[in-house]
Amino acid sequence: MCGIVAYIGKKEAFPIVMKGLQRLEYRGYDSAGVAILNGDLNVYKKKGKVKDLLQFAKDKKVNGSLGMGHTRWATHGKPNDVNAHPQQSGDGRLALIHNGIIENYASIKEALIKIGHTFESETDTEVLVHLIDEVQRQDNLPIEEAVRVALTKVIGAYAIVVIDKKDPNKIVAARKGSPLVIGLGEDEFFMASDATPLIEYTQKVVYLNDEEIAVVNRSGDLQIKTIDNKIQSPFIEELNLKLERFEKGDFDSFMLKEIYEQPKTIADCMRGRMSAAEGWVKVGGIEASYERIINARRFIIAACGTSWHAGLIAEYLFEELARISVEVEYASELRYRNPIIDENDVIIALSQSGETADTLAALELAKNKKALIYGVVNVVGSSIARMTDSGSYIHAGPEIGVASTKAFTGQVTLLTLMAIHLGYAKGTIPRSYYLQLLDELENIPKKVEKILEKNSHIKYIAQEIKDATNALYLGRGYNFPVALEGALKLKEISYIHAEGYPAAEMKHGPIALIDENMPVIVIATNKSAYEKIASNVQEVKARKGKIIAIVNEGDQEIRKIADYCIEIPYTDEPLTPLLSVIPLQLLSYHIAIMRDCNVDQPRNLAKSVTVE
Ligand code: G6P
Repeated sequence: MCGIVAYIGKKEAFPIVMKGLQRLEYRGYDSAGVAILNGDLNVYKKKGKVKDLLQFAKDKKVNGSLGMGHTRWATHGKPNDVNAHPQQSGDGRLALIHNGIIENYASIKEALIKIGHTFESETDTEVLVHLIDEVQRQDNLPIEEAVRVALTKVIGAYAIVVIDKKDPNKIVAARKGSPLVIGLGEDEFFMASDATPLIEYTQKVVYLNDEEIAVVNRSGDLQIKTIDNKIQSPFIEELNLKLERFEKGDFDSFMLKEIYEQPKTIADCMRGRMSAAEGWVKVGGIEASYERIINARRFIIAACGTSWHAGLIAEYLFEELARISVEVEYASELRYRNPIIDENDVIIALSQSGETADTLAALELAKNKKALIYGVVNVVGSSIARMTDSGSYIHAGPEIGVASTKAFTGQVTLLTLMAIHLGYAKGTIPRSYYLQLLDELENIPKKVEKILEKNSHIKYIAQEIKDATNALYLGRGYNFPVALEGALKLKEISYIHAEGYPAAEMKHGPIALIDENMPVIVIATNKSAYEKIASNVQEVKARKGKIIAIVNEGDQEIRKIADYCIEIPYTDEPLTPLLSVIPLQLLSYHIAIMRDCNVDQPRNLAKSVTVE
């Protein structure tokens, strides 16, 4: 949610900043801006994508070796040129970019207006840069001190970068709640919302912690202080990220690339954590806090969006395989309730980005109530990964497409490993079933490959239903959350209204909507509820709904009723989500492309939601 990039060094800043913004565009893409300091402070801002800004800045003065840029996902004020960042102080001396929300901006703005400040934009960010300017001028402070003092007056979340025309050899940054990473090069520094813009220049980074301020300068100095003025020693980490993982390669979109990566990413998630041949499974995060996890009274899963759907699948997995009671919560709801949580609970946070503001806040709450905090995260070094007591990375690699695909299957794979590990340790699954599940799990990547081979058939079905205005997704048991995920994928990228429902619940509402124009996508791979789902399919057919059924290879019965069938290989029921979700991802992808939608950057959405 908003991307930040900054550079100070010996190279030209503009191309580095613009390239970095393009890499961060998945975080927001409604407007963009850049500031380059070279004697003058040149600021260019444009509504639209980074390419629009590039076009706008084509003939402008952009040379200089200190600069910063921002790609925005609007919170305060609509997306337009004026509200885009950088925002500047009244005299144009300071420029600031911001990711987050300043909650008490209205009262600060009122106070500043009283003493003569005027504002051009509707943003909370402009208020913050005016506040810093005011603090700086009142006491004639260096910019880093003015930033520090101003931030003591601010309530909210932020990652900010500030430059001061009068102090041209330095960049100041600070964070609270929104991420910021500093890249350390040879006589140069980079700053960004995540490591993606930095890795082609350096693998050495420092992740700024909450309530820390960093100052980097041309002489190669990096200083970090807390907002209450305590010097910190920077903790330098070495990344091991390869550039090609951030590029589309031969694919037209990141989303399609990421869908096709799944056989590999699922295998990467399992690597080193299990062996079917040797009959073992071991999830390091569980081992690290074994006693508390194995004796937990219950698991509470907190997540948002697609990650929440992975959490719902985990509820079925942990209950069935390990007999652990599970609650799955929207992090945004959990954080504002007064939930009964104590040291006997384990809170599992699921998050691709590891930065989702609501999930972080729910974790803080549970931590204060002494629960064990476990993170299942994709982005290495992210805020959630760093605040948990224990956890596991899903190792899916960078996910750039805004609609999550490979992170979802990575989360489900990891949660399945956890459930099998715990089930076997607790004796709630017999050894024969344990070995069978491991064997099946190891075969999942090959089976996903087989489903991907059906791409052209799925594309054909997409063609048949692409003009629908509504769609219904039905599933039971393990496949109910998959139905929710299928509907979410369609909504996110093709803007078709879609609902996911437990198949049997259809009778209690959505059935009223079914007519010949309504595609109904039914996941009918469950062995245990096959007959029941077949009846649900009949009910849809009787109302002339267009049925697209996901069935197992060799299916006989549902095939006779459905308009279209997509066959997937058979697997044990707890593992079916890893297969049944794949055709739904491809179906949404093709429908969106046929409707001329931008699948990687769907309107109004952002990949990493770092504000409430
Ligand atoms: C946003 C993204 C979704 C994602 C959700 C949760 O809405 O667009 O794809 O599922 O945030 O993100 P997280 O990084 O916490 O999994």
